Amino acid sequence: MEPRDRPRRLRTDGVRPLLSETTLSPTDLVTPIFVDATTDERVEIDSMPGHERVPVDESADWVLEVMETGVEAVMMFGIPESKDEMGTRAWAEDGVVQRAVREISAETDAYVITDLCLCEYTDHGHCGVLEDGAETDPNLTVDNDATLELLDRIAVSHAEAGADMIAPSGMMDGMIGTIRAALDRAGFENLPIMSYAAKYESAFYGPFRDAADGAPAFGDRRHYQMDPANAREARREIALDVEQGADVLMVKPALPYLDILADLRREYDHPVAAYNVSGEYAMLHAAADRGWLSLEEVAHESLLSIKRAGADLIVTYFAEDIAELL
Ligand code: PBG
Repeated sequence: MEPRDRPRRLRTDGVRPLLSETTLSPTDLVTPIFVDATTDERVEIDSMPGHERVPVDESADWVLEVMETGVEAVMMFGIPESKDEMGTRAWAEDGVVQRAVREISAETDAYVITDLCLCEYTDHGHCGVLEDGAETDPNLTVDNDATLELLDRIAVSHAEAGADMIAPSGMMDGMIGTIRAALDRAGFENLPIMSYAAKYESAFYGPFRDAADGAPAFGDRRHYQMDPANAREARREIALDVEQGADVLMVKPALPYLDILADLRREYDHPVAAYNVSGEYAMLHAAADRGWLSLEEVAHESLLSIKRAGADLIVTYFAEDIAELL
């Protein structure tokens, strides 16, 4: 019996591009950038080859370099000059992110998204203010509602500096609603919020925590970030952020959580984002260094898969390299 259906008919070089269901474009990609107030030179990040912490003065030049590759959007993280218990440098008018956003908006046309979290600004490295005794009692952790107030201040300070979109990543309950209200009160009702809606307590963030100097000094983030075992919980988290007014919904990490991403895509009409995190980047680099994988090919395939699963935009450390390839 000869097969009647022969899918191979549609795999010739001529027809493949006509039929490809998913395409990647540089304008789908967002490059994370690390702006560092503690240095006046660029500092390479060992665990993320090709990425550097840049001083505020060079942030606009750095973004112009990113834009030469075709990538038009950046996600900004700041490393402040000093840290304290409350993370006060996170909402300072002359804080590292606030200064860099001003410079970048003055000198480039880049679309600037700011990550909004306290972990790079607190001396204990947690994503908010601590309950009394949290240093020693593993059952105590970040004080949710006290932290919300601080997140509001940070959001407004980013908006005043000229951020184009705010991306809260701290996984505090109710954060999208309170930040939305704070932005509206301050006259920023047109500023969109991209929520890290389903953010897992993931071991894939390791290299980032080196880069941004944001590892918790004790304990971990299990009390606020999600359990990797849970998918239904993600639905609930996402529904809450939708109710509270999130404009874009993000899943993070990306590759180990494509099921979550695909489910989100099916359930909601909102734009969907995925964060291809530092560990996903570092492991491909490490394998490629040993000659075990072809870096460009695996990076491209990773991003294509994330898009196929439902992402409209991808935050990725591969953005520039892949944009150039495209
Ligand atoms: C801050 C934040 C983290 C990442 C993005 N924003 C670290 C964390 O939650 O521990 C991780 C990004 C990456 O690994 O690339 N809350």
